[in-house]
Amino acid sequence: MQIKKIGVIGGGTMGNGIAHVFAQNGHDVILVDLKDEFLEKALTTIRKNLERQAKKGVIADKDVDETLGKISISTELEALSAADLVIEAATENGEVKKDIFRKLDALLSENAILASNTSSISITELAAVTQRADKFIGMHFFNPVPVMKLVEVIRGLATSDATFSAVMELSKLLGKEPVAVNDYPGFVSNRVLMPMINEAIFCVMEGVATAEAVDAVMKLGMAHPMGPLTLADFIGLDVCLHIMEVLHTQLGDGKYRPCPLLRKMVAAGYLGRKSGKGFYEYGS
Ligand code: CAA
Repeated sequence: MQIKKIGVIGGGTMGNGIAHVFAQNGHDVILVDLKDEFLEKALTTIRKNLERQAKKGVIADKDVDETLGKISISTELEALSAADLVIEAATENGEVKKDIFRKLDALLSENAILASNTSSISITELAAVTQRADKFIGMHFFNPVPVMKLVEVIRGLATSDATFSAVMELSKLLGKEPVAVNDYPGFVSNRVLMPMINEAIFCVMEGVATAEAVDAVMKLGMAHPMGPLTLADFIGLDVCLHIMEVLHTQLGDGKYRPCPLLRKMVAAGYLGRKSGKGFYEYGS
């Protein structure tokens, strides 16, 4: 099946990055969000990121407007009715996602593929609310989407070989390097990443070292591009807590217990970059 027309749901950090990458690779993209102001903000971010790439010479100046010209916006799910593939990057809430997928399932042609960019919700469970669990898959992108090479392609229990192959192939056409994983809590990325971040937070809580020192150890000693606490601020501390809760609840192992300092910071509204304060402070 030819996958040409792409729908993206959610214009936040991940959604606008996903729309950016598909449009840049010649796909027509329809970006859907709840309000016009969210969509305008998404387009402004995509322009800014394309201009950054043009300035660096990654793309030509003319590609900025050409890429933006491939993205249309709508506040109505119905705008996606002709899409070959819809990638959901809405808020990380299972009920919200299920509601979206039920509606998409009724709306789209029977061959269309549904994908979720969820970082921790079960692909099998989301697929089960549709009549097309065989055409349902996880496409987990990484922030910043235009830069990070990985797409974690997650097979639900019922995902067909044809859907899996089509999505692997498509991800390669986007210039990404897809890696296949099966549907278990946190997949591979967050099963490995989040306990490391959580342990870094325990180190700060227990006074093993300052946040700066923990980050310096991992950057200088392990060649991580960002220290784990800088990365936690970048991802969002609320997102990190949510993923640890999923690992803890669904795997039922105490080793995944969220660090109390992480809980306290989220309760205080210290969510990282997006709130201006996390382990570090950020100017507006
Ligand atoms: N759009 C387009 N290009 C961008 C960009 C964006 N949003 N952000 C950065 N770039 C480009 C820059 O233009 C620059 O390009 P060149 O290499 O051609 O010069 C390059 O990316 C590097 O950017 P900077 O020089 O500004 O900054 P840096 O060297 O410090 O790198 C970083 C920034 C790429 C974010 C790097 O610090 C990094 O890789 N950090 C780790 C990010 C990471 O781990 N992400 C995964 C988070 S987990 C997740 O997303 C999923 C989940 O489920 C939680």
